[in-house]
Amino acid sequence: MSPDLMMSRPLFVTFEGIDACGKSTQIKLLADFLHRRQIKTTQLRDPGSTRVSEAVRNILLDRKYADMSPWAELLLYEAARAQLVQESVLPALKNGFVVLCDRFYDSTTAYQGFARQLDPVVVEKANAIGSCGLIPDLTIFIDIDVQESEQRKQLLGHTLDRMEAEGKQFLQRVRDGYQALWAKEPNRIFRVNGSESIETVQEQIQTLLIQKWKDMFSSEQ
Ligand code: TMP
Repeated sequence: MSPDLMMSRPLFVTFEGIDACGKSTQIKLLADFLHRRQIKTTQLRDPGSTRVSEAVRNILLDRKYADMSPWAELLLYEAARAQLVQESVLPALKNGFVVLCDRFYDSTTAYQGFARQLDPVVVEKANAIGSCGLIPDLTIFIDIDVQESEQRKQLLGHTLDRMEAEGKQFLQRVRDGYQALWAKEPNRIFRVNGSESIETVQEQIQTLLIQKWKDMFSSEQ
């Protein structure tokens, strides 16, 4: 048995960053890496991944709801998350899976807290409710600048959803928010430079994951 496999534990790993930072690609590559090692792994997205949460996601991202109040937006993100935690994340962790989740409550702090400028104390309380108190074991912040995000989105060429349509200044506040969170919680949140090649970013993420297992393993000894 390889040393990585011996140390593997159920783990809740979340991925954060602004639009087009490469989260989905990196999550898929990491899931492939873990599956090749026969490590039980599941990929989820927040908001989404359950019937209820996907329905809420559709409302949140639909541009026909441009009049949505920031408070309603906050609570809808939390509602989608509560369903995801109860229906998917907690059962998967209980069954020994590594859970790779595209976004979690740090997104709310960055988007609704920093960018929408809602009261940070209220956002924190809302996050505690939506996450049902669950804290990620490891959070990967894939950092790119706003200009790169805009360029990548143009290349992708798809229609912008309600959140993506917010524009550059909004996105800059989101990025500032993530950087502030990373500075505040350096033991949980790790920044990788998303401008590096896909392979380099992936290698760094794998190293962080294995280091997390090593730390868990040695604290059990
Ligand atoms: P995604 O397209 O990366 O899955 O994310 C959906 C959008 O929702 C994205 O623009 C970020 C935003 N979002 C928030 O504003 N608050 C949140 O709590 C979450 C999870 C996502």
